[in-house]
Amino acid sequence: MPAIAIIGAQWGDEGKGKIVDLLADRTKVVVRFSGGNNAGHTVVNRLGEFRMHLIPSGIFHPDVTCIIGNGVVIDPATLFKEIDELVERGISTDNLNISNRAHLIMPYHILLDGLEEEARGSGAIGTTRKGVGPAFTDKTSRLGIRVCDLLDRESFRQRLGTVLEQKNNVLTRLYGAAPLAFDDVYRDYCRYGERIAPFVRETDVIVNEALGRGDLVLLEGAQGAMLDLDYGSYPYVTSAVSGGVSLGLGMSPSKIESVIGVFKAYITRVGGGPMPTELHDESGEFIREQGREYGTTTGRPRRCGWFDAVAGRYSVEVNGFTSAAIMKFDILDEFSTIKICTSYEIDGDSHIRPPACPYRLEKCVPVYEEMPGWKCSTSNIRRFEELPPQAQAYVRRIEELIGCPASIVSVGPDREQTIMVRPVP
Ligand code: IMP
Repeated sequence: MPAIAIIGAQWGDEGKGKIVDLLADRTKVVVRFSGGNNAGHTVVNRLGEFRMHLIPSGIFHPDVTCIIGNGVVIDPATLFKEIDELVERGISTDNLNISNRAHLIMPYHILLDGLEEEARGSGAIGTTRKGVGPAFTDKTSRLGIRVCDLLDRESFRQRLGTVLEQKNNVLTRLYGAAPLAFDDVYRDYCRYGERIAPFVRETDVIVNEALGRGDLVLLEGAQGAMLDLDYGSYPYVTSAVSGGVSLGLGMSPSKIESVIGVFKAYITRVGGGPMPTELHDESGEFIREQGREYGTTTGRPRRCGWFDAVAGRYSVEVNGFTSAAIMKFDILDEFSTIKICTSYEIDGDSHIRPPACPYRLEKCVPVYEEMPGWKCSTSNIRRFEELPPQAQAYVRRIEELIGCPASIVSVGPDREQTIMVRPVP
């Protein structure tokens, strides 16, 4: 059995956690390979409702090996809080493995995330202020501190000494903020080191051995393609498309057999940046309330809009989705008509691909096609053929416009509230 990647197809929060939890029964390994605790994956199953930020959504399946791969940035305080909460609720975390190569979020990353946002003024990205961006910046600028650094106190002392001096210079000289005390950071992270040690592994070896045995490996993406550093609406971005999988956990892309793109039946965005189909009316408000569209990580209200098939088609292209999961379908149950954006207009010209420049994306006027709603509850339906004809037509039209077949339609938060349109390999 090969690997299946579960990738957010829009601006994050599409419902990837539910899909991972759903497929985890057949899986031996579930891996997070990107992002950090800016992510918030909600899983609702017979054990209750869980909001996960770092730990893979496979943790509820005792036989599944869960991995936080090298491509994730880890805030140890959040990690241990999440572990403690799971254990308190009777979920074992013994099957959790953490890459020794993953980078750590340090206290100065969190401070800098806030200070940098404030310095951006009206151009603020609307980050989650969890330190994720600054941690990835340090990884690239070779100032990062990794999980393996915590395992040897003397070399950690030296590494932290070098890095903290630079960071304190930035905090004090550039932002006029107070410096961080070496002893406090050193003490806290030495404690984290002791606690993290039993979980630390060469996780790429675990993944590659599992693939070698023929086990199914699920790759749990974070955020969404439209937030990708290269392909998203730069600079309002953070995460990785499906191509990030190989780097984020150390396996060959040739091992990925299928890539499931997770979409909502509409679209949401949280934070700043252009969003052509954003609704500022009662329909947007209705979707927000009905869909409980408030950030899992920050509680911020999400911006809501009609399904954007321009962004959807682009997402299919850059990720190579082999099928689409369409989530939160039931949220549209009460609309008498539903709109889909089929193209954008910029200064009178038609575009079928999102422009790269934010100032052009800001100018995009969505061109809509209107479809009849189905005006009845779909949340108890389990077979595609039993959906009202208007609902089937909506799914078929999305498939046609984005150029990708739907494998799953989700009609509620529970694992059972799922329609398998086609088998997922
Ligand atoms: P950061 O990842 O905290 O730096 O935030 C950068 C941008 O990505 C902001 O617009 C965030 O709102 C957005 N973002 C980060 N994580 C998520 C997520 O899990 N879902 C949706 N948006 C996110």
